Amino acid sequence: MKLNAALPSLVATLLIVATQSAAGGGQQLTVGYYNAKKCGGVEPIVSDEVYRALAADRSKGAALIRLFFHDCWVKGCDGSVLLDASPRNPYPEKAAGSSIGLRGFDVIDRIKSRLESVYPGVVSCADILAFAARDATRYLSDGHIDYAVPSGRRDGVVSRAKDADDTLPGSTFSFADLKTNFAKKKFDAEELVVLSGAHAIGSAHYPSFRDRLAAPRGEIDARYQTALRNAARNRSRLVANNIRDESYAFKKDAGYPTAPVNGRRDYLNNTYYHNAIDNRVLFRSDWALRTDAFAFGKLKEYRDKPKEWDSDFAEAMVKLSKLPAEGKDFEIRKNCSAINNPSRY
Ligand code: HEM
Ligand SMILES: *[C@@H]1O[C@H](CO)[C@@H](O)[C@H](O)[C@H]1NC(C)=O
Ligand SMILES: *[C@@H]1O[C@H](CO)[C@@H](O)[C@H](O)[C@H]1NC(C)=O
Ligand SMILES: *[C@@H]1O[C@H](CO)[C@@H](O)[C@H](O)[C@H]1NC(C)=O
Repeated sequence: MKLNAALPSLVATLLIVATQSAAGGGQQLTVGYYNAKKCGGVEPIVSDEVYRALAADRSKGAALIRLFFHDCWVKGCDGSVLLDASPRNPYPEKAAGSSIGLRGFDVIDRIKSRLESVYPGVVSCADILAFAARDATRYLSDGHIDYAVPSGRRDGVVSRAKDADDTLPGSTFSFADLKTNFAKKKFDAEELVVLSGAHAIGSAHYPSFRDRLAAPRGEIDARYQTALRNAARNRSRLVANNIRDESYAFKKDAGYPTAPVNGRRDYLNNTYYHNAIDNRVLFRSDWALRTDAFAFGKLKEYRDKPKEWDSDFAEAMVKLSKLPAEGKDFEIRKNCSAINNPSRY
């Protein structure tokens, strides 16, 4: 073979190798995995279902992005966060304290049943979740944040509440706790700051911010704290992670401009960093990023450079999606809420 004929295929091979990365159980992840399997409809079907779900309820986008984080952080991206309790496994990840408020399972189930009818037994729930989080990110950012998702994951068969509680960061974590937690997954302090920006969207339940009602001066803007206390007193079930998305009454209590932003909640951009610098973020773990000089510098950088945050966030989401599944047994689940043979585990 002449060299100039061999070169293009060599370059192609090198490109494929460069976009592959290890998943658990010896799988390789590749961008376009389902296209190569002649199942080109997979990613379009996921996008279609995610867009329908978000058009009906925009808040489902935040739900899917968090679900993806919780899946990948706990023993890698293996769909284990999706499993329901069963007689042999009464306390799956869903039952963990750190799973408070997890939702969006209905969207995943709908995508799965549609994919099963077109490509039975082909698409893993872990891949569906990784695609769905990307599609939600694109939707909520009006296309400003977009990225290719490597796929070819398989589904795990183990899901334990204890693993979730031992692994996921808590809302009361200090900066040192957060840094250690992220370092265990080989994510650095910059990536911690980048990913925390996801708290520009979505909402939280009272137990997740209760401690902030009594936070000492300096740890929270005084008027924002007053608004939180009022919301708690008024028994608001949920508080928006982003003050931008709060009610008129809340903003008035907080001394935040009450003019509607643009009528849409959950717009994913760098507003988190404006709130952080203004000391109006919801969780203690959000506030904690101010307590470290390097992280504080990054908060200001991402406040001032919205496009840089968009692309760094996309990159960090891809890195999250590559956290390798840690189990030994894998399968392509037929139903994302249950393993294929519930009598085995
Ligand atoms: C840095 C450590 C983190 C901590 C301590 C943390 C903690 C929390 C807590 C306590 C909630 C509220 C749950 C509730 O009460 O309903 C929440 C919500 C949320 N988190 Fe995080 N989180 C962290 C990182 C992340 C990351 C890396 C992402 C995604 C990239 C993320 C995305 C979200 C989203 C989108 C919501 C809103 C969910 C919804 O509206 O259903 N978080 N987080
Ligand atoms: C809570 O109720 C008080 C008294 O009715 C009201 O002044 C305040 O605006 C409410 N705040 C929120 C956040 O609902
Ligand atoms: C973020 O999105 C909101 C809502 O669309 C918009 O008003 C705001 O200007 C954007 N950027 C920042 C930094 O807040
Ligand atoms: C999927 O599994 C769950 C059990 O966790 C069950 O409740 C549900 O009906 C199943 N869905 C389908 C479509 O079989």
